[in-house]
Amino acid sequence: MGRCNKTRGPCLLLMAAVVISLLMASSAAWSKQAIEAISSSLLVKDYSTSLSDIRESSDACQDACLWKSGINGSWVQDFDFARDYGQYEEPWVIEEGPFQRCTAGAFQPSEDAPFPWRTSWRWVDHESDCQVDILTLDKFCKVLQRLNVKRILFFGDSLTDAMYNSFANKIGHANFRLNPDDQRNGSMICPGGGVDGADPGRDRRIPVFGKKLPIVPRNTTRKMIAFDHEVRHFFDSSAPDRVLAIFNIGAHYHGVNDYRKDLDAMLNLLSNMNRSQDLYIFRATSPGHEGCLPLTREFDWKVGARIVPLAKFEDYKVTVGHRHHWDKFEGYNHYTKQILLEHNRKRLDPIYHYLDIFNMTALRNDAHPAPRDCLHFQAPGPIDWWNHLLFTYLSRLSEDGQQQGKGSMKEITTNCRRSYF
Ligand SMILES: *[C@@H]1O[C@H](CO)[C@@H](O)[C@H](O)[C@H]1NC(C)=O
Ligand SMILES: *[C@@H]1O[C@H](CO)[C@@H](O)[C@H](O)[C@H]1NC(C)=O
Ligand SMILES: *[C@@H]1O[C@H](CO)[C@@H](O)[C@H](O)[C@H]1NC(C)=O
Ligand SMILES: *[C@@H]1O[C@H](CO)[C@@H](O)[C@H](O)[C@H]1NC(C)=O
Ligand SMILES: *[C@@H]1O[C@H](CO)[C@@H](O)[C@H](O)[C@H]1NC(C)=O
Repeated sequence: MGRCNKTRGPCLLLMAAVVISLLMASSAAWSKQAIEAISSSLLVKDYSTSLSDIRESSDACQDACLWKSGINGSWVQDFDFARDYGQYEEPWVIEEGPFQRCTAGAFQPSEDAPFPWRTSWRWVDHESDCQVDILTLDKFCKVLQRLNVKRILFFGDSLTDAMYNSFANKIGHANFRLNPDDQRNGSMICPGGGVDGADPGRDRRIPVFGKKLPIVPRNTTRKMIAFDHEVRHFFDSSAPDRVLAIFNIGAHYHGVNDYRKDLDAMLNLLSNMNRSQDLYIFRATSPGHEGCLPLTREFDWKVGARIVPLAKFEDYKVTVGHRHHWDKFEGYNHYTKQILLEHNRKRLDPIYHYLDIFNMTALRNDAHPAPRDCLHFQAPGPIDWWNHLLFTYLSRLSEDGQQQGKGSMKEITTNCRRSYF
């Protein structure tokens, strides 16, 4: 307890930083025409492909679950799930920070809550064929091998950083090694044996690198989305091998215009790498929850928050004109989907995939580092599900060729073209 009281200062500072960073916003209006104008200006080449061409082309994804999974469903409480899959193996690969240690980390199990509530919710998709599968080391390694992925990059804001942390902790300390000088530089070890008994006995080391972008100060000249020498080195040293890159921007935007510029910049950066062999996955911006609970710091964290996630998307509310502009996130996501769909339809390289974590996360008002930060999440918790969804997506992608005809192209939102060798 004493240790936790001492950390209060830094905790408050951290909160203040979060709040200040989120205060940066402007009030540019969102309009369909603007989306369309930008969509066309972004696309350099015009192959004048129509949706029907893609539908019939052999490289379009067929499995409808690729874009349906994780969207329409509910969180169901399941303490067996919490026990078997909801926790991180001790010791954690990447430790929790001081604030988390004093709050969520102070939880003590009891008979009625043997694990923290936020880890006891399992996503059940209403599309019964499109369930989200759970990432385990073994299954993830097999998918990486099938997709021929040799390296993994997480590139984006603090929420992608949290996704990297979750990933490392889900893989667990026995199979995830960190560079002692840099906790964003690690590698996962896939035990030998491999798919189809290939490479028996030989472990595979998959470098995993996390790059957290700095928050753009509001009034600087905008040149913030860039690959620094570390990221360039990461790509250079992987050529010609396939990199799986999970990237995002979104939550810290001043307004729509800056978001567009930076998304444009980010996609150009990736395109200019000329690495069509890579797998690029854009992660949707995740929603914030106004007035998230508990509302006070004088909360008994040993018992833990016992909050039930929202039952349906219609219950998710954010004030129009929200002071951190969380009400713009759906617009950012919508715009991004349009851009990526258009890009893929035109058969431009590289292919961009879209990981849609927005809807499932919109229901998770229960797991924020409340009361002050209602955007980030406690861990283990909802962000682990982003990695489960990522794994499920990759798994489906690797099998997509065998699933011809299963999906209906009418329902397409982002047309991922198949992209594995
Ligand atoms: C998912 O979220 C979008 C907003 O981005 C919303 O329009 C849609 O209705 C949601 N879908 C479901 C099934 O809740
Ligand atoms: C979500 O699933 C429910 C239950 O299957 C269904 O009734 C509803 O129409 C679905 N909603 C959307 C937006 O697909
Ligand atoms: C940016 O903002 C700071 C503090 O608000 C101010 O001192 C500085 O002059 C501004 N710079 C520009 C280029 O507007
Ligand atoms: C990560 O660390 C290894 C040494 O442990 C180093 O060789 C590599 O260049 C580092 N990667 C990045 C991207 O910094
Ligand atoms: C990618 O290709 C373009 C056009 O061929 C070329 O101008 C550019 O320098 C290449 N970029 C890299 C990083 O090799």
